Amino acid sequence: MKFSTKAIHAGQEPDPSTGAIMTPIFQTSTYAQNGLGGHKGYEYSRSGNPTRTALEDCIAALENGQYGMAFASGLAAEQGILSLLKTGDHMIACDDLYGGSYRIFERILSRYQIETSYVPAANVQDYEKAIRPNTKLIWLETPTNPLLRLVDIRAIAEIAHRHNILLVVDNTFSSPYFQLPLELGADIVLHSTTKYINGHSDVVGGAVVVKDQSVYEAIKFYQNAAGGIPGPFDSWLTLRGIKTLAVRMKQHQENAFAVARFLSDHPRVEKVYYPGLPSHPDHELAKRQMSGFGGMVSFTFKGSLEDVDQIVRRLKVITFAESLGGIESLLCHPASMTHGSIPREIREARGVDDTLLRLSVGIEDVEDILNDLDQALATRPEIDQDIQEQQLVHK
Ligand SMILES: Cc1ncc(COP(=O)(O)O)c(C=O)c1O
Repeated sequence: MKFSTKAIHAGQEPDPSTGAIMTPIFQTSTYAQNGLGGHKGYEYSRSGNPTRTALEDCIAALENGQYGMAFASGLAAEQGILSLLKTGDHMIACDDLYGGSYRIFERILSRYQIETSYVPAANVQDYEKAIRPNTKLIWLETPTNPLLRLVDIRAIAEIAHRHNILLVVDNTFSSPYFQLPLELGADIVLHSTTKYINGHSDVVGGAVVVKDQSVYEAIKFYQNAAGGIPGPFDSWLTLRGIKTLAVRMKQHQENAFAVARFLSDHPRVEKVYYPGLPSHPDHELAKRQMSGFGGMVSFTFKGSLEDVDQIVRRLKVITFAESLGGIESLLCHPASMTHGSIPREIREARGVDDTLLRLSVGIEDVEDILNDLDQALATRPEIDQDIQEQQLVHK
């Protein structure tokens, strides 16, 4: 089955008791058992629920994996993967990554003497240099959050497997529509399903997909033992959101391209980060590794922290908010929002400064998005003058 067909049908059959086309919301905590050991595959909804099973099977099919597991949030899914580690283990992570992942690594794993080394996201050789005898996991985000650098999954998978290390790829930003990490050699794929997978900004959720049975069993054990599972209604909403994933992603990308080009030509914009632009440092890798460039665009502008407040207050169509991947355009200020948990010196050294804005380009009419950006970025008089002077110099 092709991607769009799987998004609509994988893991889902018409309900055998009624013929209902949509998977029912099995809003139950427990299941009647017919005598000792006489259950029909479900005993208690922390361990398994049919609506959740449909979601887990659908996401596994979209990622071309064998086993899917759904969690109550992306971070709960991360915790499921990190349960593979034990005291004294070491992991390597790319240095440009979601602030909440950094917070788990630094503030929770460190309590168990599990140390994380960070390497510049795009430097393949640095991952191998960081390997120690006790390294158990390599953790990648690609495209990275918020600078949208790309990491060569195939090259890092080759290094990881030569050293008997598992490779985790957080595929949240790209979605399986544009990138299939398991096909490129990753062992574990992670999603904050809160984002593109659900796509409607009405659910917080997470998912893990793997190929290997023993890795599945270990994470599945943790999922049941620790209990960070999504309820039936959230599972159902996510399943419903997935059905339009392919059409949404196509439109997100089309609009993102237009936004990236518009910002590149805007006098108040300093730098645009979008892997689809030929000027992006990882554009060639993006063409090889992904089937599209996604819907996220980051940019820095000429101005200061005070200007950020002015810009975001002027927005009319785009909403100033955390999160991404929904149908509506959301603008976020990583330094104070998603990456606020990373100390300023570390954050700035990684390129996340006060004038960086991250736009999750929605699927509204693109003209409305561009007009909104244009009016919000309108300059204050002193900056205006600065820009006019620069333009005169260029002429
Ligand atoms: C790339 C990435 N991974 C993981 C997460 C965590 O997901 P959640 O917020 O669903 O816990 C996020 C959240 O923003 C994210 O952007």
